[in-house]
Amino acid sequence: MSFSENKPAQKLADLGVTQPHEIAPLFTEIRARFDADASAAHDEFTWKQFRDAWLGRKSGVLTLITDNWLKPSPPELKRAVGAALNELRAHVESQVEARRVAIESGADEAALARERIDLSLPGASRPIGSHHLIRQVFQQIEDIFVSIGFSVVEGPEIETPYYNFEALNIPEFHPVRDDMDTFYLDLPKGAETPLLMRTHTSPMQIRTMEKRQPPVRVIVPGKVYRRDNPDATHSFIFHQVEGLAVDTDITFCDFTGTIEYFVKQFFGPGVKTRFRPSYFPFTEPSVEFDVSCIFCGGSGTSASGGTCSKCKGAGWIELFGAGMVDPAVYGFVKYDPKKVSGFAFGMGIDRLAMLKYGIDDIQVFFQHDARFLRQFP
Ligand code: DAH
Repeated sequence: MSFSENKPAQKLADLGVTQPHEIAPLFTEIRARFDADASAAHDEFTWKQFRDAWLGRKSGVLTLITDNWLKPSPPELKRAVGAALNELRAHVESQVEARRVAIESGADEAALARERIDLSLPGASRPIGSHHLIRQVFQQIEDIFVSIGFSVVEGPEIETPYYNFEALNIPEFHPVRDDMDTFYLDLPKGAETPLLMRTHTSPMQIRTMEKRQPPVRVIVPGKVYRRDNPDATHSFIFHQVEGLAVDTDITFCDFTGTIEYFVKQFFGPGVKTRFRPSYFPFTEPSVEFDVSCIFCGGSGTSASGGTCSKCKGAGWIELFGAGMVDPAVYGFVKYDPKKVSGFAFGMGIDRLAMLKYGIDDIQVFFQHDARFLRQFP
C-alpha cells in the first residue's frame, strides 16, 4: 500500500474534514486503494504483507482509521465515520480471506500439476552393468579348477624381490629377470627391502607353500605388471592365473591330464593340446602348452583357403607356460623334495580371452569403451 498522502495517519480535522457528507468520498478513496492492493497479492508472501498492512493490530489501516478518525471525531461526524468504517472493515475482512482461499487453491493446483504422473511416458532407463570380460574369464577359469578340487587364493600386487624372484629360483643377475623388468617403488633411504610391482602371480606359490603343508591345490588370479611398451599384445598391466598342485604322489601324467582337462573345458571338447619343452627357473621339466588353432580348427588354412592368420599356418597356438615344480623351490619353503612333487602353471588371462573371443588388441581391455564392453553382457 502506498499512499502519496497517508490520510489514515492524520486526524480528520487536519485533513480539513468537518462535515458528515465529506466522509463517504474519503472512504471511497481508501476502498479503491484496498482493492488495488488486494489484486496485487498473488502468493502467500505478498498476501501476508497485504493482510498486515490492512488488518495489523498496531498500525494496520483499519486501526489507524479507528484511532485517528473515529475516536477523536466530534459527535456530529462519529456516526457517519463509524458506519463507513464498519462497511470498510467487512469488505476488507472478506476480501483478505477470499484472497487467501484463492492463493491456496492455486498453489494446490500447481502442486498437483507438478506431481501428476503420466503413466504413458517412457520410463527413465537405467542400463544394467555387467562384469568386464576379463572378470568373466577369471570366473570361468576359477569354476573349472574349483570343480576339480583347487581353491582360489589371492596375493599382494606389491612384492619383495625375494618372493617375486629369489624364492622362485631366479637369483639376481639371472637373465630371466631381463624379461620381467617392472616398476620399483620409490622408498625412503634405508628401507629394509626394495619393493616392486609383481611381474607374475608365481610369488603366491611361495607364499602359499610357506603357510600350508601338502597337499596344496590352489589357483591365483590377479593383476601383474611389466615395463612393456603398449601394443596389440603387450600392456604394462595384465592378468594371470597361477596354478600350483603339490602332494606326495603327483606325476607328470596328473599334470598333463589336469591341463588338458582345463583346456577342453575352457575352449570346448573339440580342441587338441600338445606341449613342447621350454625353460622356467622354477619348474623342471618346463613346458609350453599349445592348443590346436581355434580359428582354423588346427588345419592351418583359413575358411577362404589362405593361410590362417591367427596361427600363421602352424595349426597350433601357444597358450601358457607350466612344468613340474623345481626341487630347488621346495628348499625355499622347507618342503622335503624327496617326499613331495607337484606341478605349476601360469597363464595370461588377457591372451586366453583374446583367443576365446577373437579379440585382436589387448588395449581394448583397458580402454573402458562401452561399445566393446557391451558385447559381453
Ligand atoms: N610366471 C611365468 C611368467 O609370468 C609363467 C609361468 C610359467 C608360471 C611356468 C608357472 C610355470 O607357474 O610353471 O612368465
